[in-house]
Amino acid sequence: LVSDVRLRRVLDSRGNPTVEADVLTESGGFGRAAAPSGASTGEYEAVELPPGEAIANAREDAIPRLVGQVYAGNQREVDAALNAADGTDDFSGIGANSAVAISMAAAKAGADVLGAPLFQHLGGAFRGENFPVPLGNVVGGGEHAADATHIQEFLAAPVGAPNVADAVFANAAVHEAVADLLDERGVPCGKGDEGAWAPSIDDAEAFEIVEEATELVEDEVGFEVGFGLDVAAAELYDADEGVYRYGDDERTTDEQIEYIAELVDEYDLVYVEDPLDEDDYESYATLTDRVGHRTLVCGDDLFVTNTERLSTGIELGAGNSILIKPNQIGTLTDAFDAVELAVRNGYDPVISHRSGETEDTTIAHLAVATDAPFIKTGAVGGERTAKLNELIRIADDAL
Ligand code: PGA
Ligand code: ZN
Repeated sequence: LVSDVRLRRVLDSRGNPTVEADVLTESGGFGRAAAPSGASTGEYEAVELPPGEAIANAREDAIPRLVGQVYAGNQREVDAALNAADGTDDFSGIGANSAVAISMAAAKAGADVLGAPLFQHLGGAFRGENFPVPLGNVVGGGEHAADATHIQEFLAAPVGAPNVADAVFANAAVHEAVADLLDERGVPCGKGDEGAWAPSIDDAEAFEIVEEATELVEDEVGFEVGFGLDVAAAELYDADEGVYRYGDDERTTDEQIEYIAELVDEYDLVYVEDPLDEDDYESYATLTDRVGHRTLVCGDDLFVTNTERLSTGIELGAGNSILIKPNQIGTLTDAFDAVELAVRNGYDPVISHRSGETEDTTIAHLAVATDAPFIKTGAVGGERTAKLNELIRIADDAL
């Protein structure tokens, strides 16, 4: 049984406070995990409270329902207790940040009791054979960097990599090649929140550079390295006017669909996340009809790891892929249920980090445990490499 739950404020990668949880068990098990945090958050995500408030509320309401009451290894029971303690349908009671930190820490404590690696505890004895392709953010802007591209993320996608380590190194090589190409063009730049380069160039130039960088690396490594996007279009959408704003340019919804479809054709994009507003299932369906046979059309802000929203999408044919962020929904149980619903309906799950991260590696294990075909967790930077290096260790059987 859970014997203690400790909560504290720690730093995230943006220098903001976030919630860290320790879960201890009577049999000596221990697990520790921290909540990540978004910047371009979806409107329908579970609610993140200020960490101090989330911690105080969880101490009062959640911890008494866990300590001496549930087994850390029984994830559904732990997460049901968190939901019961919260009492709302969006975790606005104890905060999704407290909930997800406790949920993930309990999973690690459960694995520790078993003496098994986390991916095996979560996925079962037969998991760990397939590895997710890492999508690595190499150029970005949007809400993650001021005065950079309108499209939030340009993601290297080493789809032909023979193993996860080669894929991880290929993404880092694309990141470096982009830096060289920017340098050649005399474009100075810093980095955005996820470690991607954040140059002050227009999106068209970013496409040129990322295409060239992926081709250079592809030649070097000898396997296919494509790229994809997170448009984060809800951040560009002006609901009052019904247009997508790219600085001074604007596109109607039909023009946006056309634009994305053309980009898929021109650059052979393997992945397009949030190409349209988070309320527009219909246009997602239209775009999916057009390009869904040759690229992933992934809903992040659209689905927010929520099975109800995913069900609506499945009914309407909106997208063919779902981004999975445990903190969008608050527990690992709900994140797993979203993965299962997706897979049963032919949607590819993509396990994802947030722009605000910690050294926590849970999502690397989650991706392996669920057999997810992709994981999106950056290309460089300590809080990103924590996950990438953990994938390399899992593949190397070195945990
Ligand atoms: P966020 O960005 O963590 O700031 O929401 C990541 C994403 O949009 O995928
Ligand atoms: Zn996104």
